[in-house]
Amino acid sequence: MPPAEKLDDDPDGASPLISVPAVAKPADTERHAPPVALVIFGASGDLTARKILPSLAHLIERAALPEEFTVVGVARTELDDAGFQQLALDSVPGHSESWEKAVSRFRYVTGEYDDLSTFSTLTTVLDDVDHECGTRGNRLFYLATIPSKFAEVAEQLAAIGLNRPGPGGEFARLVIEKPFGRDLSTALTLNRALHACFPESEIYRIDHYLGKETVQNVLALRFANAIFEPVWNRRYVDHIQVTVAESIGVEHRGGFYETAGALRDIVQNHVMQVIGLVLMEPPAQVDGQSIRDEKVKLLRSIVIPDPADAESSSVRGQYEQGWVEGQQVAGYRGEEGVDPASATETYVALKLSVDNWRWAGVPVYVRTGKRLARRVTEVALQFRKVPHLAFADRLARELTPNFFVLKVQPEEGVSIRFGAKVPGQAFQVKTVSMDFSYHDAFPGETPDAYERLILDAMVGDPTLFIRADEVAQSWSIVDPILAAWSDEYATPVATYPAGTWGPTEADLLIQRDQRRWLVL
Ligand code: BG6
Repeated sequence: MPPAEKLDDDPDGASPLISVPAVAKPADTERHAPPVALVIFGASGDLTARKILPSLAHLIERAALPEEFTVVGVARTELDDAGFQQLALDSVPGHSESWEKAVSRFRYVTGEYDDLSTFSTLTTVLDDVDHECGTRGNRLFYLATIPSKFAEVAEQLAAIGLNRPGPGGEFARLVIEKPFGRDLSTALTLNRALHACFPESEIYRIDHYLGKETVQNVLALRFANAIFEPVWNRRYVDHIQVTVAESIGVEHRGGFYETAGALRDIVQNHVMQVIGLVLMEPPAQVDGQSIRDEKVKLLRSIVIPDPADAESSSVRGQYEQGWVEGQQVAGYRGEEGVDPASATETYVALKLSVDNWRWAGVPVYVRTGKRLARRVTEVALQFRKVPHLAFADRLARELTPNFFVLKVQPEEGVSIRFGAKVPGQAFQVKTVSMDFSYHDAFPGETPDAYERLILDAMVGDPTLFIRADEVAQSWSIVDPILAAWSDEYATPVATYPAGTWGPTEADLLIQRDQRRWLVL
């Protein structure tokens, strides 16, 4: 017998189950933003300090932003340039000299968004920075305000002509945070308002889940490998489970959360986007148009439930007091800013059907909630059982069906579970798992989702942003569920103790189909 061939990426002949050479991360270091002024509306707010400024600091440290870059903060809070610069320094503990240098050029405009003079001051400041910092008329307007201000800010920008690049510039672009509408009709109204001011090609709607490396890895896994795609369909997959579990509660966002709930906060956007990538058809190319065309096509195949189905295929829950990670925590109704009689859901479980050639008959079960036992986001494809199990039952007692699990967070990687023989005389079979860990394969820090997305918006790559038709389609799926829940005869919101995996009603939802939630 000839000696076994050595695999190329198995240089020392060791044969771990998966051998991935540790390599330096290529990616973003090769992408550079053009000269640009980033205008942040809501500059004194939480998102700016928590996400936007630290991401900019990282981008600067990684030399992904040019010298010809600056930030202009706009907000109602009274601050001057020096005050905003201090805020920018304080938001990045342990910052570098390069961040200090960049921050020293940051500018700030105090003003109301309904006052055109705020925008004329902004125009003057932008002209100044074009001269002082060389930003060359390129503008990226980041709307980190409360959502009710999105349309107003866009309208004011257009009224003063800031919806066009400045002198010699190439782009004037809008980045919009979630939530994008609170149902289909408000989302369509917002889209219309924005389209009256900016072309769709310059509107970048953020869903930070798309900035997560592991979510993007879905594309690599599915379309850069030959081994997964053949089994990625109804012939082999029994069902799919999507879990977005959080151990945190609503924190200081009780007031906001009361107007949202888990369906709007997580399912309409993050879950739908993940489902889109995992279930869509192969795109013609990996670019903004092809990927988003395929996602929207997939979303269109998700069955829009009628009112009766919407009720029976969904469960909503709300946490009561309990214990999370050793800490006693309050119930949702006891949280600051929450109505003591609130019916807002902090948990949702859904069964979705996808009516297309690839996925017909393969249910997609979704669960998401706050104050669950632990933080974990993953997508699991459970494969069909083998047609005939030739082993005696008692020898295959510990055998479960095959799974493909895409781990989004906190562990990042992929796990494939399959049966293996237990060493010994008997032919006993047990489930084992083959794990790929992002951190082991690619040591080093994974960039924050915002870092990736802000750079993409500057570069002008819309692939990881949500297009108008995707937003509308996701709301079309979610709207009937919201309507069913608001019916006066609807099943009231179920409850679950904080620190558990959700209400028992959610277990019944999946058990009805002789299936069960994966143990996480
Ligand atoms: C946000 C939601 O979009 O996503 C929050 O508004 C939620 O309620 C957060 O906590 C979860 O994001 P991540 O990245 O921690 O999974």
